[in-house]
Amino acid sequence: MPREDDPYEGAPVILVTARDGREHRLPAVEGWRVMEVIREWGLDIKAECGGACACATCHVHVDPAWADRLPQPSEEEIARLDDAFDVREESRLACQLLVTPSLDGLRLRLAPGTER
Ligand code: FES
Repeated sequence: MPREDDPYEGAPVILVTARDGREHRLPAVEGWRVMEVIREWGLDIKAECGGACACATCHVHVDPAWADRLPQPSEEEIARLDDAFDVREESRLACQLLVTPSLDGLRLRLAPGTER
């Protein structure tokens, strides 16, 4: 039975590996951007432009098992990733990923060059 004092009861959970290698389980609010979830839980992500797809400092490496389960990146996101370090096939900008129930269990790693 859901507890009224837990706003995250039943929420999708995102698994984020920080740069020190520790994995964090972050309950997420639907409709938020993944970048906002990471930032709100206090992990070190610069996200300098606040989600405008203008800085690439929210760069993450998504677990390859999730690559086909995410919406395809826009041309704008692909172009912006050119500004990031250590870009890989599984690179995404966390500000361009919206939290939905289907993202429950999404696993990703903070990329280098996104430190505050
Ligand atoms: S926060 Fe700037 S591109 Fe994502």
